[in-house]
Amino acid sequence: MAKQVLRQAGGVFVCLLFYCKPAVKTLELRSPKAQHKLTLHELRRFGDKEITIDDYYFKKPMHYRAIPLAPLLRATAPPQYDEILFHCADGYVAYAPRSALEDGKLDNFFLAYGEGGDSFRSEIVQGKTAISPEPFYVVSSRLSDHDVLSWPYALVAVEFAYFQEKFPGLLPEKIAKDPTLYSGFMLFRKECLRCHSLNLQGGDLGPELNIPRNITEYRTQTFLEQFIRNASAFRAQSKMPEFNHLKTQEIRSIIAYLRAMAKYKQRPLQH
Ligand code: HEC
Repeated sequence: MAKQVLRQAGGVFVCLLFYCKPAVKTLELRSPKAQHKLTLHELRRFGDKEITIDDYYFKKPMHYRAIPLAPLLRATAPPQYDEILFHCADGYVAYAPRSALEDGKLDNFFLAYGEGGDSFRSEIVQGKTAISPEPFYVVSSRLSDHDVLSWPYALVAVEFAYFQEKFPGLLPEKIAKDPTLYSGFMLFRKECLRCHSLNLQGGDLGPELNIPRNITEYRTQTFLEQFIRNASAFRAQSKMPEFNHLKTQEIRSIIAYLRAMAKYKQRPLQH
């Protein structure tokens, strides 16, 4: 009896040890043909630096341990792809085209993995909550590089893909051939897709905008123009940022694209 209790206690002890063991940070790398994980130790082979940067989200200088991003991407990219997707724990997806990597536009970027040590202490304010950048946070030494890649935090996976394969339902041929609608699509792809999906293709932080009802089927043109420019004027501390840098004409072309997509509702097969 005593032996049995001891054995059970031993089992519990082993389980506790297992649970208490600090999790090893890993970054998943996906491409059409392969999927694998690199541990922090393996990632550090691409360089390991201490950097101080003017942080876009913390709005002050921050000090990080970080791995240069471009060498890591160059070494792990498959031969064929045209888009790099950065998947975050909250459903946010940041994008950079292959050309950004090849033209050196990602050369100032780093994969930060901790403040001082291997973890982050500070939290980023997101709407009414604050979230930790764990496990990885992509930052740049140049604040203005936010335009190139939107500093994804809580990054869990990097994916190399073909845009058209990943998002086959976003650009029907008729829209591609109409200059205004096409420019609306290009703006939507650059500014909105990281948070919003159409036909369930795209980011997950903001609402789906096409199925079952297209956003223009239940919101007016005036509402959409005002909301897209400044969501926080409607809902305090909205997670949707302001789009003051867009011209009214550009916002209108995004809305025109969204309206046109109402004719192309589809529920894609889940892979
Ligand atoms: C950083 C993430 C993010 C980005 C980028 C973003 N949105 Fe949003 N969007 C949201 C969230 C979150 C909501 C829900 C807003 C809320 O309730 O405060 C939202 C809501 C909306 C709504 C719904 C409003 C309603 O109540 O029906 C529309 C339309 C919209 N966004 C359009 C856009 C467009 C167009 C762009 C690009 C110009 C864009 N969003 C970019 C996160 C984002």
